[in-house]
Amino acid sequence: MANPTLLILAGDGIGPEVMGQVVRIIDWFGDKRDLAFDVDHDLVGGAAYDKHGTPLHDDTMAKALAADAVLLGAVGGPKYDALDFSVKPERGLLRLRKEMDLFSNLRPAQCFDALADFSSLKKDLVAGLDIMIVRELTSGVYFGEPRGIFEEGNERVGINTQRYTESEIDRVARSAFELARRRGNKVCSMEKANVMESGILWREVVQKVHDEDYPDVELSHMYADNGAMQLVRAPKQFDVIVTDNLFGDILSDCAAMLTGSLGMLPSASLGAPNADGRPKALYEPVHGSAPDIAGQGKANPIACILSFAMALRYSFDQGDEAARLEKAVEQVLADGARTADLMGPEGGSPISTSEMGDAILAALD
Ligand code: NAI
Ligand code: MG
Repeated sequence: MANPTLLILAGDGIGPEVMGQVVRIIDWFGDKRDLAFDVDHDLVGGAAYDKHGTPLHDDTMAKALAADAVLLGAVGGPKYDALDFSVKPERGLLRLRKEMDLFSNLRPAQCFDALADFSSLKKDLVAGLDIMIVRELTSGVYFGEPRGIFEEGNERVGINTQRYTESEIDRVARSAFELARRRGNKVCSMEKANVMESGILWREVVQKVHDEDYPDVELSHMYADNGAMQLVRAPKQFDVIVTDNLFGDILSDCAAMLTGSLGMLPSASLGAPNADGRPKALYEPVHGSAPDIAGQGKANPIACILSFAMALRYSFDQGDEAARLEKAVEQVLADGARTADLMGPEGGSPISTSEMGDAILAALD
C-alpha cells in the first residue's frame, strides 16, 4: 500500500525552524517504527507571497486538498504588515481552513508535571490537567451576514451576526462526542442559551445528537461565562469542551494559559471525512511566527512536534505512536531540557531549537 501523504507548509519566521525538528522526527518514525510518510514541502504566507505574489498558490491549495494531512508552521511578520488585506500572510491560512472546510478545531490544554510551576494557577489545580477544547471554526459570528459598518440616522452602526444552522452544530457536536469516547467520555457544551437564540438551538442540537447517537457519553451544558470561571477555578472537572467559534476563541486561549508557554501548544483542525474515512486535517502550533526570536535558534519546537503527534493520532490512527512521541517530550522536560521560553524567573542556560530536537530524538531512541 502507498505511504500516507503529508504536505508541510513551514511558512514564515520561526515556522521553518520548528518544522525542521518535526521533519527529523518524521524521519525517525520512518526509520525506527516502519511508519513512512510521503512528504512534500511547499510555501504559505509571506514566503509564498515573496515567490508568487499570493499567500497561497492555487497549486498549493490543490496539494493541501489531496494530502492525507497538512502540517503548518506559522505565517506572518513585520515585513508583510503593510500589505493589502487581500494578500496578507494570514489570508493563506484562512483560505486553507475555508477550502478544506475545517469546522472542528481541537485545542488540548495539557499540563506536563515538569512545567506545572509555570501556570498562573496553583500547581495542584493544574498538575495532571488534560482537557480538550473543540471550537467550531467555520461559522458563527465571524462569518454570519449581515456584517459591516453602516450609516444609521446620524451615526454609524457596526454589525456582526451570530448564526448557526442545525447541521453546523450537529457536525461539530459529533466530532466532540467521538473525541470524548477516545478520552474521558465526558463532554461539556458551552453557549449562552440564557440570552441568545443561537445558543438555545446549539443546546437543543447537541442534546439531540447525544441522545440519539452518543448516550454512553456523559453530557453537561454550561453558560460560557460560567465556563470561563470554572476553567480558572477547577479546570480538571472537564474532559472535552465543545463550543462555538467566538466563545471557543476566548476559552481556548484562556485554557491554554493554564499550562504555561505558547511554545508548548499544539492544535488540530478537522473537516469532513474523505472517501477513505480520514478527515481533512491541518495541524499547527498555536503560536505565530515570533519575529522577535526568528532566525536565532531560540524557538521551542515542542508545539509543532506535539501537533505532529496529533496528526499521528487523528489522521493516521497511530495513537500508540502519538503517545510514544508525547512521552518522549514529557521525558526531556522531566530531565530539565528547557528552551528560552521555558526558563523560570530564576533563569538558567537554555538549549537551542535543534538541541531540543536532539533531546527528543534521544528520548525516542
Ligand atoms: P507569536 O505567537 O508569534 O509570539 C508571541 C510571543 O511568544 C513572542 O514573544 C514570541 O517570541 C513567543 N513565542 C511564540 N512562539 C514561540 C516558540 N515556539 N518558542 C518560544 N517563544 C515563542 O504572536 P505575535 O507576536 O502576536 O505575532 C507575530 C506574527 O505571527 C504576526 O505576524 C502574527 O500575525 C502572526 N501570527 C500567526 C499565527 C499563525 O500562523 N497561526 C498565529 C498568531 C500570530
Ligand atoms: Mg485567539
